[in-house]
Amino acid sequence: MGLKPVKVGICGLGTVGSGTFNVLKRNQEEISRRAGRIIRVEQVGARRPNPNCDTQGVQISQDIFEVARNPEIDIIVELIGGYDTARELVLTAIEHGKHVVTANKALIAEHGNEIFEAAQRKNVMVAFEASVAGGIPIVKAIREGLAANSINWLAGIINGTGNFILTEMRDKGRTFEDVLAEAQLLGYAEADPTFDVEGIDAAHKLTILASLAYGVPLQFKKAYTEGISRITTEDVNYAEELGYRIKHLGISRRTEAGIELRVHPTLIPEKRLIANVDGVMNAILVDADAVGPTLYYGAGAGSEPTASAVIADLVDVVRTMTADRDNRVPHLAFHPSSLSDLPMLPMEEVTTAYYLRMLAVDHPGVLAEVTRILADEGISIDAIIQKGTREQQVPIIILTHQVQEKRMNAAIAAIEGLPEIAGEVTRIRVEQLDAN
Ligand code: HSE
Repeated sequence: MGLKPVKVGICGLGTVGSGTFNVLKRNQEEISRRAGRIIRVEQVGARRPNPNCDTQGVQISQDIFEVARNPEIDIIVELIGGYDTARELVLTAIEHGKHVVTANKALIAEHGNEIFEAAQRKNVMVAFEASVAGGIPIVKAIREGLAANSINWLAGIINGTGNFILTEMRDKGRTFEDVLAEAQLLGYAEADPTFDVEGIDAAHKLTILASLAYGVPLQFKKAYTEGISRITTEDVNYAEELGYRIKHLGISRRTEAGIELRVHPTLIPEKRLIANVDGVMNAILVDADAVGPTLYYGAGAGSEPTASAVIADLVDVVRTMTADRDNRVPHLAFHPSSLSDLPMLPMEEVTTAYYLRMLAVDHPGVLAEVTRILADEGISIDAIIQKGTREQQVPIIILTHQVQEKRMNAAIAAIEGLPEIAGEVTRIRVEQLDAN
């Protein structure tokens, strides 16, 4: 270890920052043996100290931009989160010739194209393993491990808070708010927890995964996003009766017409391994042409699991610091000059199967009317449950085969127009997630 130490500046000392600081310190010797250089935290930029970190002997600055400009620092670790300040910080660090490691999925999904371009110009690296699924090395797996393959589709449980909420609601009958409060306390939830429950956080991560899988520029704005706040225990129970679990999935599939990019609650067969990923755990299922399906499972959030990914990036950056930009692993897996212009498909063009639940007045011919509407739109039925109750109105649950979303939209509008149907039709998409 004759070379001089690599000096790191950590910006942000919250959940992930403190984990990164502590793991780097605890495992310093082994990490250095892996990297070939000693990795030393030279400076920390944070507004306030974190009682979980002993920062004695480390320069502390309340101004994160001072860290980004410090000529002593080789690598900036951006762990402040958010968009605008993080963007400015990262661009400042790049401008000053520093490599960047970030855990910020919002930043990469929304400003990644601009940031990678700036990094290419300055011949520095931007590493973002921790931005998707916390401690699971999914960026490396897709970018390097699956480099031989043409990837067909991927589907992931990529928000721990949402999965924790769905799991606790199903297993323990706890309320949505109660579980969310616990996730916030444990440091899993986003600063604005609507990002978790409305699927925005998952859409950020899915945007990144799709770009790595298909070699397309990052296009967060094209993602379709639907949250979990309207899932009821009734739907959870009917899904179970039909042999399915409801999971909040991020799905991206390559089709001839374009790329699907969608986050929504989804019924998946309960026998799939991914259907049994519970609590705050994350998992990503990737179907690729040569290897077939592979599944990546682990902690998707939390202090040290996320630090694990941040530090792996630090080691990667240190190992390749001397390689020029043409000999590094490209940011989005494919060389910047070889990105594809395959479009992202609007949700209306997506083809999938559906679970429908509606409340119907119990008299002859209603079910026939509903099935006629579905038939008129070319929608074939897979299963029907009609619950006999003593009430005037009875629930009807229908599983359909695959159809284009716009045809289902038309069918639902027509069903909701029937006088015998009360209120709105609940629609949850269904995916079999089997390999081609
Ligand atoms: N809020 C995120 C989650 C944190 O719950 O998965 C990790 O990105």
